[in-house]
Amino acid sequence: MRLNTAYEGALGDYFAESATDGPYNAHTDRPAMFALAGDVTGLRALDVGCGAGHYIAELRARGAAEVVGVEGSETLVRHACERVGSDAAVTLHQHDLEEPLEFLSDDSFDLAVAALVHHHLENREQLLAELHRVLRPGGTLLLSTVHPTADWVWHGGSYFDEDRVETRFGTSGFTNSHRRMTMQTFLGELLDAGFALERLVEPRAAESARRVDEARYLKTLQTPFFVAVRMRKH
Ligand SMILES: C[S@@+](CC[C@H](N)C(=O)[O-])C[C@H]1O[C@@H](n2cnc3c(N)ncnc32)[C@H](O)[C@@H]1O
Repeated sequence: MRLNTAYEGALGDYFAESATDGPYNAHTDRPAMFALAGDVTGLRALDVGCGAGHYIAELRARGAAEVVGVEGSETLVRHACERVGSDAAVTLHQHDLEEPLEFLSDDSFDLAVAALVHHHLENREQLLAELHRVLRPGGTLLLSTVHPTADWVWHGGSYFDEDRVETRFGTSGFTNSHRRMTMQTFLGELLDAGFALERLVEPRAAESARRVDEARYLKTLQTPFFVAVRMRKH
């Protein structure tokens, strides 16, 4: 049976809201990824698993020339459409990332972003191969995921377990699933896909998270939640 991990319906609405100003997405993951990105002025960017379009909006605000978003959830594509409004430099596709990105051309993007999505997928090898194909030589992939030790703390067992685990969304009652993996698997898959590692960060929340949720802000100073990498296609 095919997994459907896209955040549909009420979960999509909940995610769209919490990603706007929540401690994890807005104040931990995105600041770390944009620090890794550097100057995006004039770039043609792809955002896979674009959710409610928060990255797309920020890429455009920071000067990206064009952004293509790909997202599996109809609910979140609708949120992304609302967020980007009539911006003609943004194109959105509803598409299951377990399938190839056939509608995108080879060597056509300067930058690809995959924020907190690839651990949901089983066909990560195919997705990474597709991201490699559509990036121009020398292009950049920014990718973030759940930190392997966060999964180990939450789900227990052996650090080396690579089973599918349930993702809980705070105290909302919503759940989804993702594949936990070791750091060796995570980085190995990226290197095997033909990317070179330029930088790896284990983000702590930005100071701005303190205002939103002090307890969670303080927790991220002690426990890694995410890991983010900047990779180069060579
Ligand atoms: C944690 S959210 C991250 C969203 C966005 N990248 C962000 O950081 O705001 C994970 C996203 O991956 C999407 N997703 C999960 N499985 C997917 C699949 N098989 N195909 C396409 N999108 C998927 C979800 O719908 C959701 O938008």
